[in-house]
Amino acid sequence: MTETKFDLRRLWPLSRRGVVGPSEHLDVDPGDEDMSSDLESSPAWNDRGAEELGATEEAALSAPAQKLPLANLEARQISAWFGDRKVLHKVDLEMKAGEITALIGPSGCGKSTFLRILNRMHEMVPSASLAGEVLLDGVDIYDPSRRLTEARRQIGMVFQKPNPFPAMSIYDNVIAGLRLTGTPATRDEKDQLVEETLTKAGLWKEVRDRLRQPGGGLSGGQQQRLCIARSLAVRPRVLLMDEPCSALDPTSTRVIEETMLELAQEVTIVIVTHNMQQAQRVSDQCAFFLASQGTPGVIVEHGLTEQVFTFPNDPRTSDYVNGRFG
Ligand SMILES: Nc1ncnc2c1ncn2[C@@H]1O[C@H](COP(=O)(O)OP(=O)(O)O)[C@@H](O)[C@H]1O
Ligand SMILES: [Mg+2]
Repeated sequence: MTETKFDLRRLWPLSRRGVVGPSEHLDVDPGDEDMSSDLESSPAWNDRGAEELGATEEAALSAPAQKLPLANLEARQISAWFGDRKVLHKVDLEMKAGEITALIGPSGCGKSTFLRILNRMHEMVPSASLAGEVLLDGVDIYDPSRRLTEARRQIGMVFQKPNPFPAMSIYDNVIAGLRLTGTPATRDEKDQLVEETLTKAGLWKEVRDRLRQPGGGLSGGQQQRLCIARSLAVRPRVLLMDEPCSALDPTSTRVIEETMLELAQEVTIVIVTHNMQQAQRVSDQCAFFLASQGTPGVIVEHGLTEQVFTFPNDPRTSDYVNGRFG
């Protein structure tokens, strides 16, 4: 059976304006003026996003104490293309509620593309298309009746290179998502949210006395934790992390790993990592991606991390996890 590609631009004609994250990770058109300022290159929102936000999201955002049940994320038969080039082929993966799923595999096998499909960032690349479904608690995030902004709020992303707004204060960085959506919050609610999310991100004790200082003044590891706090402030149900520690020293890496293990109790986490020890330390489930000789990326094997590392079913998995290639 042939696969039906979505016409992503018809599905969401403004998708390229749904600006998310730093330009170097998004392959956006360098001439795209939307990327020019700090605010517009923000984690999940733009002006349009603010208009699109409905009452439900506002309620969720302005209720700092609210706890949502853990979410299940499921990719079904996901294929992806850049132009005519197919880079992922019929990927199925369930990312279970409350667990950490690690995506491993050599460079270029489609891990980042897969992650970006999980929160509708893939469609920001002009030539991109995809087929398949992404179900958040059983509801397809690509359903035309669903809002793009809703998917991006529920499914947050942390990138390889920490991308706080450098000139903005630590405090304002954390609440940037609220500011950009125009979500009303009292001073007390903001204070509470800043403390709560910085605590969850494992950064509160280090920055509580300098919340008004610029985010750009923090160390790399602290900046990454600030970005985690910023993602958490809009109360995502899933947190996607694309090699979040690969630019960090071992100590910072360890702190982020501890943070992830704590966060897994309230958000479902999917992490791409090239560090096999890290995958084993933090993940419950592991999926091994591979694109052999110009063919699109597939999942060769997935299952419990311990099993994938100790008794892999496929010899290619064994070779990869034992460092024989990639
Ligand atoms: N914006 C893009 N335009 C065209 N091809 C791309 C783009 N981004 C990634 N690719 C290609 O898609 C494939 C998968 O890339 P990627 O998802 O980044 O892999 P990984 O994260 O596993 O290293 C690679 O062959 C890469 O060159
Ligand atoms: Mg990548």
